[in-house]
Amino acid sequence: MDKKRIVSGMRPTGRLHLGHVYGALNNWRSLQKDYQCFYFIADWHALTSEYENTDIIRQSTIDIIIDWITVGLSPEESVFFVQSSIKEHSELHLIFSMVTPLAWLERNPTYKEQLKEMAQKNLYTYGFLGYPVLQAADILMYKAHGVPVGEDQSPHVELTREIARRFNHYYKNVFPLPEVLLTPEAKILGIDRRKMSKGYDNAIFISDPKEEVDHKVSEMITDPQRARKSDPGRPWFCNVFAFHELYTDKETVKEIDEGCRKASIGCVECKKIMASNLNRALEPIREKRKELEADIRIIENIIDEGNKKARSFAKVTMEEVREAVKI
Ligand code: TRP
Ligand code: SF4
Repeated sequence: MDKKRIVSGMRPTGRLHLGHVYGALNNWRSLQKDYQCFYFIADWHALTSEYENTDIIRQSTIDIIIDWITVGLSPEESVFFVQSSIKEHSELHLIFSMVTPLAWLERNPTYKEQLKEMAQKNLYTYGFLGYPVLQAADILMYKAHGVPVGEDQSPHVELTREIARRFNHYYKNVFPLPEVLLTPEAKILGIDRRKMSKGYDNAIFISDPKEEVDHKVSEMITDPQRARKSDPGRPWFCNVFAFHELYTDKETVKEIDEGCRKASIGCVECKKIMASNLNRALEPIREKRKELEADIRIIENIIDEGNKKARSFAKVTMEEVREAVKI
């Protein structure tokens, strides 16, 4: 039986960090079993906000695909492709742009938020307003049944459904309406306790070497009420503890929990244990990366193969679309 399909993408604006692992990639990996997954690098999307400085886009494309593979996504099970290599996306975007009322775009909460958040950039462009229309083309091109994304992206998937509904109504029933497969927010925060983000300079990257991880962990903000070692701490309030829950064995977590509350363990020691466990988990990931980086043709081939599969699917969809629109 044919599996249902899902589509999701990431913008190539830098290497991935642990926030991506817990906020997306672990979920993407487990979805591979039950769905035919199309995972892609959204490089045209990166252009919508980074059009002034495009230097990192190509390198990030390679880096991110390596990140995906090292955390266990499989190019054999899933289709990895690069958006700008499948020109059909731009054609479908154009056609969708004809049937998308401006008001749908202007009222999009994520759009309004991003204008505010990135106020230092001029995002009052045609392309940026139309970003969700391009996203609808990405999703509907593969007739996706589901789209695994975080909360911030769900308005875009809603809009995708509205565009699909409208297209189907005007022309022909070509597109299924995709569901949001909501990924819960990552529990871990950046080393400064804000949301982990490259822009905040608080991220631990999947590809960070051991020394870098040690250093970042040593800088992590702990329970702010624990100024001296003799002050009892509140592990439930501490981000280092949240990391322990992910990387440290249950027994030790229990000891740390008690030790922190009773002030019998200090933060320096606690962090050292965590850093060492985190590094142990990252070690096989680093090994895998070394292998892949040793011969860049491996990644190039994976991208070529994925592009071919995506393109052949996209061609069929576009024939149906042109037929439906009578163009
Ligand atoms: N907008 C998404 C983001 O910023 C990236 C993206 C582009 C996407 N096209 C997509 C995600 C299609 C899911 C499906 O993270
Ligand atoms: Fe956090 Fe560990 Fe310090 Fe407790 S001992 S406050 S859990 S770093």
